[in-house]
Amino acid sequence: MMEWKRKDLIALEDLSREEIELILNTAKSFKEVSTRAVKKVPALRGKTIVNLFFEPSTRTKTSFELAAKRLSADVLSFDVSTSSISKGETIVDTAKNIEAMKVDCFIIRHSVAGAPYLISKNVSCAVINAGDGCHEHPTQALLDLFTVKEKFGRIKGIKISIIGDILHSRVARSNIWGFKKLGAEVTVCGPPPLIPLDIEKMGVRVTYKIEDAIENADILYILRLQKERQRENFLPSLKEYSKIYGIDRDKFLKLKKKVFIMHPGPMNRGIEIKSEIAEKDNSLILEQVTNGIAVRMAVLYLTIGSKR
Ligand code: CP
Repeated sequence: MMEWKRKDLIALEDLSREEIELILNTAKSFKEVSTRAVKKVPALRGKTIVNLFFEPSTRTKTSFELAAKRLSADVLSFDVSTSSISKGETIVDTAKNIEAMKVDCFIIRHSVAGAPYLISKNVSCAVINAGDGCHEHPTQALLDLFTVKEKFGRIKGIKISIIGDILHSRVARSNIWGFKKLGAEVTVCGPPPLIPLDIEKMGVRVTYKIEDAIENADILYILRLQKERQRENFLPSLKEYSKIYGIDRDKFLKLKKKVFIMHPGPMNRGIEIKSEIAEKDNSLILEQVTNGIAVRMAVLYLTIGSKR
């Protein structure tokens, strides 16, 4: 069995198929821990993990914190808003000062693509990217891969259609890398201004027709419309987007097969997804969240667990 050799986890673009499979297999062995009465193993006892979140988060921050605690690590959630960053300290100086207190791992979310990479080059402890701008969100894609593998028993040959704001989506980019490396067939679908030029070079099929994306899918992966990252008017109106690309019951009426629904959260209910779809029995949305703990336990264990 291969060994994990990386200091950091910055992007799924960097990982080989074998490295992704190592994380998924390790996560499988950790999933059971969260079902125990005492949800704890001593794997990271004595390690210190720091959450450095420069952008809001519900799922990722909580999930990393719980993953670390279930591995018996000490976790500090650094409050950026009351830190010396507000006095002009750079993120690199902030990270180096915290590292000087002998921590083992930073988990970093930042609105600027490349921020976790920049910090990783300036500290010797592990750095895990928890989402950087429009670049990547590797642990989101890993938990999505885990969820699909758990549901279908494989990734190879699975047809996944990623719907919506591909242009601004770090989740889409990480998922395209991950699903392609593991042999899935990936389609992206959305209004033309929200599909990046040359995205076909990543090995995906592009369609602008939502019916086409739905008919040719085992899984619909619905993205949040990222209003906070849209500096230009990419869409004439939200109402029009929702009518054409929003996933509602009507779009499934003619479909004969079962299509599973995934969404990374947070959802804009009524815009990219209707509640009637989010709550359907083929929705994997909360299973994704549950699996996030096991996947993040695996990532933390592999990056810092073997370093004594
Ligand atoms: N999926 C995801 O990254 O959600 P949060 O922004 O709540 O962490």
